[in-house]
Amino acid sequence: MLKVLVLGSAAGGGSPQWNCNSEVSKAVRSRTTGTSPRTQSSIVVTANNDEWFLFNASPDLGSQILNNSQMHPKKGLRHSPISGVVLTNGDVDHVAGLLTLRERQNLSVYAHARVHSVLKENSIFNVLNSDYVDRREMKMNVEFELKNKEGKGSGIFVEAFEVPGKIALWLEDESKGENFGTQEGDTIGLKISSAGKEKSFYYIPACAKMTSELSEKLKDSELVLFDGTLWKNDEMASSKVGEKTGQRMGHMNNSGPDGSIEAFKDLNVKKKIFIHINTTNPILLSDSSERKFVEENNWEVSYDGMEITI
Ligand code: MLT
Ligand code: MN
Repeated sequence: MLKVLVLGSAAGGGSPQWNCNSEVSKAVRSRTTGTSPRTQSSIVVTANNDEWFLFNASPDLGSQILNNSQMHPKKGLRHSPISGVVLTNGDVDHVAGLLTLRERQNLSVYAHARVHSVLKENSIFNVLNSDYVDRREMKMNVEFELKNKEGKGSGIFVEAFEVPGKIALWLEDESKGENFGTQEGDTIGLKISSAGKEKSFYYIPACAKMTSELSEKLKDSELVLFDGTLWKNDEMASSKVGEKTGQRMGHMNNSGPDGSIEAFKDLNVKKKIFIHINTTNPILLSDSSERKFVEENNWEVSYDGMEITI
């Protein structure tokens, strides 16, 4: 058994985004029927209903813990059901919540060596005192069991793999050309399994392109939580809130011939869920034609507090 709880279903900035007055943010802010507030990108997973691993630590982590009783301290005066953290990239929406996890709590933090190195260079992350927090490098394409700080297995097994993407926005270096210094491992996807691979699913909150290697992996899987950032590549410009395209930001769009809905069409994935959804994306409005299209194609739109058991 694996239980997934979506703590944050939105992309960086959340929905509504603090400074955004575009259609979705406005509708959510005024509590329009068919909308709901969404916090920034994060899920938690457990294999025993007791210890959980956090996948990405969002800047909203404090309120996410408050709003989900599964995450409340339960045993004694100092306790957290969160045993550790797994990071899929170094983006602000995925690492800023690490700062919320200070206060002398034992944790293990798993990430690609690239992400660990930027955390190490930023001394503010030293609030995660090494007496309590063990930073562990995640090797690619090998399965391993997530363990707590003391080395106790969680029953959750992970295999990380590189996917097309981009270096974190705050690390972009224009002098390094078209990809701003992006290297392999800057964006990873995860296969998360229970013991003996009895159950497994994929968590890929950022992905710039469906490759044949990736589609081969995902084929026939039970559940995929996939990058749902934008409906279309030029959405920021057409919503008049920015210029960057989805491709420029390292995200493939949901719609169109190069989009994820099309790319998953023949993959026979049983349950497909969009996650990491930007506040400009019309699929966040339950009565939009885009949402209808998504649902007709057997995709679900994740929401904060969504629970999935496989
Ligand atoms: C992204 O997913 O593109 C990033 O989280 C953007 C950001 O850092 O705000
Ligand atoms: Mn993001």
